[in-house]
Amino acid sequence: MASAVSQRGFSAMFSYAGRVNAPKAQPLPTRVGGFGGADGLAAFITQQRITHIIDATHPFATQMSRNVLAAAQQTGVPAIALTRPAWVPTTHDNWQHVASVEEAVNALEGPPHRVLLAIGRMHLAAFSAQPQHHYVLRLVDQPTAPPPLARFTTTVDRGPFTLEGDLALLKTQRIERIVCKNAGGEGAVSKLDAARALGVPVIMIDRPALPARHEVHSVDEVLAWLNGRS
Ligand SMILES: NC(=O)c1ccc[n+]([C@@H]2O[C@H](COP(=O)([O-])OP(=O)(O)OC[C@H]3O[C@@H](n4cnc5c(N)ncnc54)[C@H](OP(=O)(O)O)[C@@H]3O)[C@@H](O)[C@H]2O)c1
Repeated sequence: MASAVSQRGFSAMFSYAGRVNAPKAQPLPTRVGGFGGADGLAAFITQQRITHIIDATHPFATQMSRNVLAAAQQTGVPAIALTRPAWVPTTHDNWQHVASVEEAVNALEGPPHRVLLAIGRMHLAAFSAQPQHHYVLRLVDQPTAPPPLARFTTTVDRGPFTLEGDLALLKTQRIERIVCKNAGGEGAVSKLDAARALGVPVIMIDRPALPARHEVHSVDEVLAWLNGRS
């Protein structure tokens, strides 16, 4: 999206929350850090004379998406959400759908397993409630403090991931279960392909609900909207 906006000569700014140490460089001027809630975002939009807002955050970043909707309403500046379509299971997948991290933790009740936690770093502590498992944590950055888990291994890597890489990870780490969020898209789907190939069951955290909004799944649709065609 950033490349498309840049190539077409739109004046634009890219915003990162600042969660990872070295965020990917973008072909746009980039700012890092929160705005200070919906009011802060609205003030920023007004100060910067922003005319269009593209919410391209992760489907689990619901606070930011809600802030965008509130700031758009407050300022009258239109917003669009660019999201990846959610993953859907095939008949060869073994997924258990859960609605939240807490439900994923509850779903791990039972005998000890080796569990791949591909959920980022924010909610790892919740899994201390199921201390019988060995957790393999896939993270973008090495954690500065160890998570409060009795048994864990960390693997530091950043997508896009490959089927070969994820097959190797599941095999070498002897993964018996996977917990992940339904991020959708191509960059992180290989763990699900690998799980299907190896018969590893998946606990899939479904997307949180958001208010109705103008949501599209392609860069072209956002460009059409920017050009006033939708
Ligand atoms: N949640 C996930 O699983 C996940 C996975 C991969 C990537 N991410 C990305 O990581 C970022 C943070 O995710 P989250 O789940 O912590 O978000 P969140 O709960 O929706 O947002 C928490 C706060 O972080 C700030 N923030 C979030 N995205 C921002 C952005 N693009 N630019 C500036 N500030 C931002 C906002 O602070 P203020 O209220 O102060 O403005 C927001 O209120 C998001 O941009 C998301 O796309 C999230």
